[in-house]
Amino acid sequence: MTTKQLETILQPMLIEDLEACLELDQRCFPPSEVYDSDMVRYLLLHQGGVCYKIDRSDKMLGFVIGLVQEDGTGHVISLAIAPEVRSRGYGRWLMERLESSFRLRNVITLRLEVRTTNKQAQHLYTKLGYFIVERFTRYYSDGGDAYLMIKSLLDLSPEDTDI
Ligand SMILES: CC(C)(COP(=O)(O)OP(=O)(O)OC[C@H]1O[C@@H](n2cnc3c(N)ncnc32)[C@H](O)[C@@H]1OP(=O)(O)O)[C@@H](O)C(=O)NCCC(=O)NCCS
Repeated sequence: MTTKQLETILQPMLIEDLEACLELDQRCFPPSEVYDSDMVRYLLLHQGGVCYKIDRSDKMLGFVIGLVQEDGTGHVISLAIAPEVRSRGYGRWLMERLESSFRLRNVITLRLEVRTTNKQAQHLYTKLGYFIVERFTRYYSDGGDAYLMIKSLLDLSPEDTDI
């Protein structure tokens, strides 16, 4: 492992990180997809909120925000990696950590929405085992469509099936 990697830390994202999170959100998403500060504050403080960040030398390079919904579904609300450090595995790292936390909270089904034109994110989610189940037309405020992608965390071993 290089020194650079050693300095890169994945840890829980807390309310103290609100400003840095909003700043990165604005760098990573078009205005139609940016969350307002009240919503991010709400998620960071929510009992069901599961939020992680990647920092290097106290600078936020990425974050993921998840929420355990009342029905027990794990909702991936937002994932963002700073443009200058993309394609280094950080997005996958955050998604895998989020998934581990969801498992510990007995989540079985994961869901997320992704813009139909966002092929990079879809590629990542597909590699992580999500698949498209529905298209939501005019999901975003600019009229763009979204795919609903889901993933099951149930581990079906051969003994669990009738095959
Ligand atoms: C989508 C995003 C989070 C990916 O983060 P990342 O750190 O660059 O992704 P990773 O390096 O972990 O890549 C994991 C996988 O994503 C896919 N991927 C990443 N960059 C890609 C690119 N430029 N083109 C195609 N696929 C890409 C690949 O499948 C990659 O798998 P690999 O490691 O086998 O090549 C990042 O591009 C981003 O922040 N985009 C803007 C915000 C956004 O769209 N968020 C998702 C909203 S639903």
